Amino acid sequence: MTHRPFYVTTPIYYISGNPHIGHAYTTVVADVLARTARTRGDAHFLTGTDEHGQKVADAARAAGKTPQEWCDELVPRWKALFALYNVAYDDFIRTTEPRHERVVQKIFDRLRENGDVYLGKYEGWYCVQDETFWLESKLVDGKCPTCGRTVEWLSEDDWFFRLSKYRDRLIAYFRENPEFVRPRPVYNEMMALLEEGLDDFSISRTKFDWGIPIPGGGGVIYVWFDALLNYITALGWSDEDALFKKFWPATVQLVGKEIARFHTIIWPAVLWAIGEEAPQQVFAHGWITLDGQKIGKSLGNAVDPVALAEKFGADSLRYFLLREAPFGSDFSYSEEKIAQRHNHDLGNDLGNLMRRSLAMLQKYRGGVVPERGRDDAFGARFAALPATVAEKTFALDFRGALESVWELVNALNRAIDDRKPWALYKEERHEELDALLYDLCEGLRWLAMLLAPVMPERAREIWRQLGVEGAIGADWEAALVWGGLAPGTRTQPGEALFPRIELAPT
Ligand code: MSP
Repeated sequence: MTHRPFYVTTPIYYISGNPHIGHAYTTVVADVLARTARTRGDAHFLTGTDEHGQKVADAARAAGKTPQEWCDELVPRWKALFALYNVAYDDFIRTTEPRHERVVQKIFDRLRENGDVYLGKYEGWYCVQDETFWLESKLVDGKCPTCGRTVEWLSEDDWFFRLSKYRDRLIAYFRENPEFVRPRPVYNEMMALLEEGLDDFSISRTKFDWGIPIPGGGGVIYVWFDALLNYITALGWSDEDALFKKFWPATVQLVGKEIARFHTIIWPAVLWAIGEEAPQQVFAHGWITLDGQKIGKSLGNAVDPVALAEKFGADSLRYFLLREAPFGSDFSYSEEKIAQRHNHDLGNDLGNLMRRSLAMLQKYRGGVVPERGRDDAFGARFAALPATVAEKTFALDFRGALESVWELVNALNRAIDDRKPWALYKEERHEELDALLYDLCEGLRWLAMLLAPVMPERAREIWRQLGVEGAIGADWEAALVWGGLAPGTRTQPGEALFPRIELAPT
């Protein structure tokens, strides 16, 4: 089957402080989607950094650097974090790159020419922390409704984007595409905003200069307008033969729920204004919380994502992030929960399955994969599993996808307990023993492939210990046919996959 090219994006991250676990979260999820999409076709995965705006300028000043120096110094921290988390993006965009700035200016110009951008007066409340404008009526006790910080009164001549013009089209688009915004509560919330009415949206700033200059002068382009465009500037919009032609509209754009409004209302309207299509889906996920609070810059140090990966292993953390809560919901973080997943699901269920299987193969058959049995019943039960895992993954039901994979893990463990290879060996029931040992190894080969998107590094280790030639298979449809493992393969049992972690008592 051929599939449409798959394009997944993360928000681009503000680099006003160090990266935190929330940044790793969205990026890991996008990585899992991209890796799964690559098992059946072309995929493109974009992440990057959002480098303009007052918040970055303030952080740089406080550190005694120019904003550009500050950004250049911080970007490697994001890249290192993503490498540590086994993330394989296709592109990393920085909004200070010429390939981005040039195109943002071109789009600004085009919209000014067609009248969707016009000069007006802006007066209103502004939250520097969130780089967001608020109507008086939206403030909570006079403070920013998102972060609770003090807002500033702004009054200036600004360029506006004619957002109000797109309201009807947005409402129609939401109605015709009930999956455009997920999950449902966010869809409903955004629809309610549309029904309330839309104001035009200020897209320039004159109070500070850390941004993309407005062509012809008069300040800089508002950071959010500049930032949203990254998803298409990175594809080379609108050059002939650019990636844009192949990958736009995006298959899925992942965002945290706090920035759903920008991505589901403003973003499609901007795209329409330049004659392009809206993304197919925007998924607004929940927050990782600590003691009930969103983990962010201020709580970031409490949960250092680098130390965490060093302690538990990146792949165990990736598994935890996807398995712990349904994607979309908030979930509270604790090291105990990570340790529980690591020791129980990964160590006991999966790690021991591999250790036991390879040890028995070693003992009874010299470590060499035997002939397959005549009875196909075991493999036949799982014929639909790869399609189910892919379907659940593309529906962003990562927890469900992993639960499906665990049906195979559990069935393999049960097969050992029920069919007792040690008794088969003693009773010299060689054919039955071979058939069982074959199924165990073939099951492990399947697990390596099915889990590779979530745990790429540990999957490679399963593959290596199984002794299969070459790199881990990518094409599920071709390779996941029960019986694909060649008899005669010499296994190479090695290190424990998930060594037990004991947390120090607190
Ligand atoms: N720069 C803007 C996005 C521009 S996109 C055109 C921004 N940056 S951010 O660094 O503040 O946050 C970006 C994303 O990080 C959030 O949307 C979310 O995906 C992720 N997370 C930040 N904190 C998080 C948690 N505590 N939990 C889960 N994800 C979180 O907003």
